[in-house]
Amino acid sequence: MSTDTPAQSDTPAPRAPSRSFTEMTELLLPQHANVVGTAFGGVVLSWIDVCGAIAAQRHCGRIAVTAAIDDMQFLAPIRVGDVVRLTGRVNAAFRTSLEVEVQVEREDRKTMERTLCADALLTFVNRDEEGHPVPSPALAPETDDERQRVQDAIERRAARLAKKR
Ligand SMILES: CC(C)(COP(=O)(O)OP(=O)(O)OC[C@H]1O[C@@H](n2cnc3c(N)ncnc32)[C@H](O)[C@@H]1OP(=O)(O)O)[C@@H](O)C(=O)NCCC(=O)NCCS
Repeated sequence: MSTDTPAQSDTPAPRAPSRSFTEMTELLLPQHANVVGTAFGGVVLSWIDVCGAIAAQRHCGRIAVTAAIDDMQFLAPIRVGDVVRLTGRVNAAFRTSLEVEVQVEREDRKTMERTLCADALLTFVNRDEEGHPVPSPALAPETDDERQRVQDAIERRAARLAKKR
């Protein structure tokens, strides 16, 4: 079943996670590094934010703003000269907000084997031109993994909002 069929009303049809899946490739240059020659965390965080924002924007069809980034850890170093792959996927769409996961991997130059270096969960809010939150299109998970991601995101959202309160 296509998830891109235009809806009869103003409400867009539910959209599959694959529709907004985002892949970005970067090269870690000296200006992206800290004094020991590995990635400067703030640079990686800005790439994560951009990758997540593109996935959110592809899902919503509008500019979505970052409301929150969950606690995140840098799991493995990225060195100058490494190719860095970022992937962003919408895990769940709530009323006006979305949970987007961004994974960061470094790629071995010879084997192209990938190592997970960071895994981030971001919340984006779908906004209108005046900056007011507006309903986001529903998400239509198609695989068991995508359905599980929705369930996990629902639990995390409850914890996230409790923390905010
Ligand atoms: C994010 C923002 C739009 C929320 O606005 P608001 O007036 O609090 O709006 P609401 O209370 O209606 O919340 C809107 C949605 O955001 C979610 N939200 C708000 N703050 C959140 C937080 N800290 N964590 C997770 N979700 C959050 C709400 O749960 C709601 O989602 P839902 O509609 O799916 O239930 C507003 O705080 C804002 O503009 N912040 C600055 C965003 C920004 O500049 N980002 C770039 C930073 S560099």
